[in-house]
Amino acid sequence: MPRVLPAEAAVEDLLDLLAVDLSERGWGTFDGLAWLTPALVTWLRDEVIALNQANAMAAAGVGRGRDHVKDRSVRRDRIAWLKGETTPQAELFGLLAILQRGLNERLFLGLRRFEAHYATYEPGDFYKRHLDSFQGRASRVVSLVLYLNEAWQATDGGALQIFNRESPLEICATVLPEGGRLAVFMSEEIPHEVLTAQRTRHSLACWFRCDEVALPL
Ligand code: OGA
Ligand code: MN
Repeated sequence: MPRVLPAEAAVEDLLDLLAVDLSERGWGTFDGLAWLTPALVTWLRDEVIALNQANAMAAAGVGRGRDHVKDRSVRRDRIAWLKGETTPQAELFGLLAILQRGLNERLFLGLRRFEAHYATYEPGDFYKRHLDSFQGRASRVVSLVLYLNEAWQATDGGALQIFNRESPLEICATVLPEGGRLAVFMSEEIPHEVLTAQRTRHSLACWFRCDEVALPL
């Protein structure tokens, strides 16, 4: 079950718990983050729904550079990168910058920037078990997923499965993509999978990176 933070908990309280979770097992899941307000989550949800309806989301690829392919047997979601320019994105980017600094202070990860995209899974869509860091690049260090859905039920499918970094076929957690919930994990270490969604599923994925500039796709 996700850790539920008390209403008075500050960002620093999340960071303290997250630092322990990331160093001890490589992942953490959290609910009840009062500073991630329902208003902001709703605003972000409305934005991804509008992008999806405007056909502004593109099929996601797998791999980087010459290896970049759109393999529908591996992942079927559609994505739109955030630029941080709208009001909710700017607010979110402010929070992500605080998290980046707090993780560096606690874990000395050398995070230098982050990138984020919205993702929409339509019914039938999935993302097979994978790691987020592309082999040989080692530039995505920490992955963060913020879920944007209302009243998600287990029967809606689309759960995130987190596997054990020591025995990668062992499931450690099954996380329903409920609005306001955060899943955070070490990008190079934690295998994970999005099970087939039975209902349209919206999320926002962010990667904290240790490289300075974006490498061309
Ligand atoms: C990803 C991913 C997990 C999720 O986008 O790489 O694994 O729960 N997302 O949406
Ligand atoms: Mn992933």
